[in-house]
Amino acid sequence: MECGATMSDETMTRDLLEAARGAALTAYAPYSGFHVGAAFRFDDGTVIAGSNFENASYGLAICAETAAAIAANLQGRRTGLVEVAIMGGPLGDDGALAPTAAPVTPCGRCRQVMNELAQLGGTDPVVYSGHATGWIEHRLSVLLPAAFGPANLE
Ligand code: THU
Repeated sequence: MECGATMSDETMTRDLLEAARGAALTAYAPYSGFHVGAAFRFDDGTVIAGSNFENASYGLAICAETAAAIAANLQGRRTGLVEVAIMGGPLGDDGALAPTAAPVTPCGRCRQVMNELAQLGGTDPVVYSGHATGWIEHRLSVLLPAAFGPANLE
């Protein structure tokens, strides 16, 4: 970027989705064949990604968003989560991700996991769910209304 130039919101969203696409290429998904990447952007611009990690005991699969949350914690990031991008699909013959026609909205467990980070930092991140030709977006509070979080334990 040139000095003084600012990236548009749309460019930033596309960049975050590309980070998620890149992360999806690291997924370990031999059982489902569904490779997912998630990229979290924090308020200082830091991007931390994760990918799904499956298990021979199928039900123990760890989703990309949960992997990203754990990676964020490992880097000491528990506040300031402002945006999340998710991309998923099979890999094509060329090894590239072939995103599905349907947007990859986060599973219920991952909504709850992301809510923990969001509530710790008092944010309501925008979640971009990628699909073959673009994305849809929701606030996390829309995906998980009336969420149970840290404050409920006080
Ligand atoms: N998966 C994710 O990583 N994130 C989601 O939000 C939905 C599902 C993974 C879990 C499993 O490895 C594969 O996608 C198929 O369900």
